[in-house]
Amino acid sequence: MNHKPESVNVAIKSIVILISGHGSNMRALLEADLPCKIAAVISNRADAPGLEIAKQYGIATKVVAHRNYPDRESFDAELALCIDSYRPDLIVLAGFMRILTPQFVARYQNKLINIHPSLLPAYSGLSTHARALQDGVKIHGCTVHFVTSDVDHGPIIIQAAVPVLMDDTPATLAARVLDQEHRIFPQAIRWLCNDEISLSTEGKVQMKCLEQSGCPLISPKMELAHA
Ligand code: GRF
Repeated sequence: MNHKPESVNVAIKSIVILISGHGSNMRALLEADLPCKIAAVISNRADAPGLEIAKQYGIATKVVAHRNYPDRESFDAELALCIDSYRPDLIVLAGFMRILTPQFVARYQNKLINIHPSLLPAYSGLSTHARALQDGVKIHGCTVHFVTSDVDHGPIIIQAAVPVLMDDTPATLAARVLDQEHRIFPQAIRWLCNDEISLSTEGKVQMKCLEQSGCPLISPKMELAHA
């Protein structure tokens, strides 16, 4: 009798990354040695600096310029055609600055994720760092989440919090948050590629196996004697 174990053929997942600008999050993904194939980087702007970075890493790049389309529907339809030509398992919005139509979002249900520079549901939308400073919050951060048609409100996969410092400007706060974006985004994709997370019937992200730890972030720092 042959006891040789059957080889398990686990198909490696493939992702497509969408960008609009610098692409520092995209670079973090390219450097993270993710357990997936990065099939392409697509930008809605031909002048997005991130496209050059992707090329340096030998990744296929495409431009679907939103300016060439009369409305969101026609742009999204062309973008979807471009994405589908790579047959990705996951579509990653890494600083992709276009609001997507409900039809586009529905087409990629549970396959579309985004990184947002705030602790959602606080500060959805733009200028998150300036608004956080204006409100005087002491903790700010970033979120990786599934995309739904409710902009910036899809199921949350992972968040990172940072202290807001007294002399912060929107730029210094953005830089502190961006450092954390570069940490949590690859982690979220690694979990997804390894099928380590699922969505509950209430639409919440659940970890299949994760040791939970509670490490509070208190900001400003407390005096030790009273801690
Ligand atoms: C990031 O802060 C991201 O959260 C937001 O836009 C910024 C993009 O930065 N959506 P980069 O292009 O990844 O450097």
